[in-house]
Amino acid sequence: MDHFLYRDGALFAEDVAIADIVAAVGTPFYVYSTATLERHYRLFEEALAGLPHLICFAMKSNGNLAVIRTLAELGAGIDVVSVGEYLKARAAGVPGDRIVFSGVGKTREEMRVALEGGIRQFNVESEPELHALNEVALSMGVRAPITIRVNPDVDAKTHEKIATGKKENKFGIPISRARAVYAEAAALKGIDVVGIDVHIGSQLTDLEPFEQAYLKVADLTRQLRADGHDIRRLDLGGGLGIPYERSNSAPPLPLDYGAVIKRTVGDLGCEVEIEPGRLISGNAGLMVSRVIYVKSGEERDFLILDSAMNDLVRPSMYGAHHDIVPVVEPAPGAETRPYDVVGPVCETGDTFARQRPLPPMQAGDLVAFRSAGAYGAVMASEYNARPLIPEVLVKGDQFAVIRARPTYDEMINRDTIPVWL
Ligand code: LLP
Repeated sequence: MDHFLYRDGALFAEDVAIADIVAAVGTPFYVYSTATLERHYRLFEEALAGLPHLICFAMKSNGNLAVIRTLAELGAGIDVVSVGEYLKARAAGVPGDRIVFSGVGKTREEMRVALEGGIRQFNVESEPELHALNEVALSMGVRAPITIRVNPDVDAKTHEKIATGKKENKFGIPISRARAVYAEAAALKGIDVVGIDVHIGSQLTDLEPFEQAYLKVADLTRQLRADGHDIRRLDLGGGLGIPYERSNSAPPLPLDYGAVIKRTVGDLGCEVEIEPGRLISGNAGLMVSRVIYVKSGEERDFLILDSAMNDLVRPSMYGAHHDIVPVVEPAPGAETRPYDVVGPVCETGDTFARQRPLPPMQAGDLVAFRSAGAYGAVMASEYNARPLIPEVLVKGDQFAVIRARPTYDEMINRDTIPVWL
């Protein structure tokens, strides 16, 4: 459930009419709902109630400082994958001891910044990384708290580009080698082993792969404890999917996911961390756009929008579906017709949807892409010299621009011309 509903025939974000935001900031833009972010965060809190836990929002899904602060104020931790995300989390007010650092390619400089600023743990993904971290920590006279990310070789049954838990993927160390690598880690003076990490993929719509992976982690916990390691924390990753197509999908609820966690690892006495991104931010955001032209082709009608693949890349990159709704509510039972919904970028890949049934549209009409709060703004680019679109946060009847649209001059002046030209 989200807080983007029609009211008296017009689409609202909580108590703010989308049309009012359009009047203030122009199109296109992203808009997020505070109440929806908070609701989704609390669903995970309820799902893990009774277990010691920390919900570390995966900032890669939505990195706006205002979104991070909203969640941090509820007590959330943050999962970061670069020093840029680390510094943004700190700037949003997240204490270091609530930040976990994931990612396959952390540099020594990134490690140093995080150790200096404070970090809950590094999720280490390889032996070379383990040794690099040990050296950095020793050079600073500290010990780095770590988990090791294990690759459980489980099929997440999701899009191949976002599955991470199979042995052919670049992530983690093979679970079969875990005991050897933990032994290696225990011998390093700059390393403090605190737990195990696993993350098998994103947009999972089935709980079975989680169950398989977490059972393997539970077995590994027992083995490692028998080997003498103090495994006290389990980071179980993110990945729970959301209903992108409201009409025909109903992925599992956080409560059911929580039950899987309790069933598989609940009796180990570990503190549990999870790293949800999409489920918290995805359906808390819309991308609002205006129809520039309706173009009738030989075989089909094109809706040409003022937003494009550079603003929301998921359809073009993953063939992802986003529901598209008119900002003015169609009359009940109103006719629809199929449109190819496209942007102005000069490639055919700049297509949001093919043959999508929508009420008859005209130039100037407004549409909203649903489920755009995760992996939307964060993946945007300025391809075709299209400035990044603004982000807006709504809370009740208030809204604020939380990232302004850059001016053309700002965009142009980021380039510099060498003296010899
Ligand atoms: N933790 C780790 C280590 C991850 O790699 C990810 C996502 C998450 C947590 C959060 O997963 P979530 O709960 O959001 O599913 N750009 C793609 C998604 C890439 C996900 C990458 N890793 C998309 O637009 O679908």
